[in-house]
Amino acid sequence: MVCFGKSASHMSEKNTALKTKARISLTRNLPNPNMDVRMMEEEFSNWAFNEERAPQFRGKWRSNVFKVDEAHPLDLEIGTGNGYFFAHRANARPERALLGIELKYKPLIQSIRRAIKDGATNVRIMRYDAWAIEELFAQGELNDVFIHFPDPWEKKKQWKHRLIDDEFIGLLHSLQRPGSVIDFKTDSLDYFEWAMERFRRSQYEIVAETRDLHASEWAAKNFVTHFESLWTSKGIKINYALLRRP
Ligand SMILES: C[S@@+](CC[C@H](N)C(=O)[O-])C[C@H]1O[C@@H](n2cnc3c(N)ncnc32)[C@H](O)[C@@H]1O
Repeated sequence: MVCFGKSASHMSEKNTALKTKARISLTRNLPNPNMDVRMMEEEFSNWAFNEERAPQFRGKWRSNVFKVDEAHPLDLEIGTGNGYFFAHRANARPERALLGIELKYKPLIQSIRRAIKDGATNVRIMRYDAWAIEELFAQGELNDVFIHFPDPWEKKKQWKHRLIDDEFIGLLHSLQRPGSVIDFKTDSLDYFEWAMERFRRSQYEIVAETRDLHASEWAAKNFVTHFESLWTSKGIKINYALLRRP
């Protein structure tokens, strides 16, 4: 089923295509919630929000969730996976708030548990489909956005599923504050070229671009994510770009 949350009215006409790509079931309709689902709804309910709770904080993440002022940096990771980067980032940058979007329950719980086990209090996660990101954030609500190893959808007939396209880039531009960045990594050279073509014709400035991150000048500052370690152990080079919103 398709769930757009309660704030579908915030959608603009031009984002209708993104909206139709969003597919997410309602947690409350699950006949047999597994342990991860129960943890999201119970033990971690102050840290993790389901698809019905998360959109209620649209435009209010700083004031209502993190209890910080409007100038406080609020970053987002899309697709946290098992959360090694998510936990690292939250703990390494306690002066910034960090949100995660993750579609699946298991990695969602792994991510938030890892982050708060290491002591972070500046972090929350939500179960949502990134395609419907405009239901979660108001214009200019976000600072930096991390997109590491999104599903590459390599076959031509699957390209329409790729998260980074013209519309999504335009949407991020409207949600991010000036001076913020998108930090993008992928093992798929094909997806990287596709994405860079679209970033080049967008309003973003390209700050960094490499098809071999680990041999580049940006290697020293790089945190190796779980998926990244899987690919590099097979000798696959990592593509990386840093895009700045003017
Ligand atoms: C290949 S993994 C990468 C995980 C992590 N970023 C890393 O580098 O190790 C992609 C993750 O994105 C999540 N994901 C895929 N499509 C998504 C979507 N539309 N919205 C939110 N999360 C999504 C998947 O569930 C998965 O955990």
